[in-house]
Amino acid sequence: MKVLIIYASNYGSSHIYAHRLKALSHFDLVSYDEIKTIDPYEAIIYIGSLYAGGVKGLAKTLKCHDLKDKKLYLLTVGISDPKLSENHDNIIQNIKTQVAQEIFAKMRIYHLRGALNYSKLSFKHRIMMYLVYRKALRTAKEERSKEDEAIVETYGKTVSFVDFDELNKIWEKIDEDLNGCNVAS
Ligand SMILES: Cc1cc2nc3c(=O)[nH]c(=O)nc-3n(C[C@H](O)[C@H](O)[C@H](O)COP(=O)(O)O)c2cc1C
Repeated sequence: MKVLIIYASNYGSSHIYAHRLKALSHFDLVSYDEIKTIDPYEAIIYIGSLYAGGVKGLAKTLKCHDLKDKKLYLLTVGISDPKLSENHDNIIQNIKTQVAQEIFAKMRIYHLRGALNYSKLSFKHRIMMYLVYRKALRTAKEERSKEDEAIVETYGKTVSFVDFDELNKIWEKIDEDLNGCNVAS
């Protein structure tokens, strides 16, 4: 099956995962803003970083390219821990608001954790994180969401949760699925 990996990254986490997946799978790879055509491909693996709940580049990619007839895998990359159900549910709810129902229904969604280096953030992103941090700080400790807690703990620091073992596990599932042996995600 001809498969294209599309990635959308600002600071490199999704880029690193995408390149690693290319090395594992030997699929073609392109950044979301450099796609020429997706016509020859039967399946798309989209690796996109989370920004304010949204998956970077996903809305634009879905708007500009017809993915209806293709198998679609979405790998989100964010700083919050997707193994916590509260965070996982937030990510899924946000995706639901970004993609059409028919696309959401057929998407297989997986989650990876990325990295954050405050000293490398753009001015706009620094301000955004500051506002989120201030809001989290103003929320009483016992009322903070898991995401709020993570922001407060990591604010201003350099943290990396990039985990290739997690990517390997996801790749095994996608590989089995592409080869016709459906497994639960
Ligand atoms: C302005 C801003 C907003 C972010 N919003 C989220 C978010 O909503 N959920 C999350 O899990 N991570 C969020 N993050 C963390 C990024 O998703 C994380 O740093 C990711 O690894 C960045 O990927 P990239 O290096 O490919 O750009 C945010 C980071 C920044 C700077």
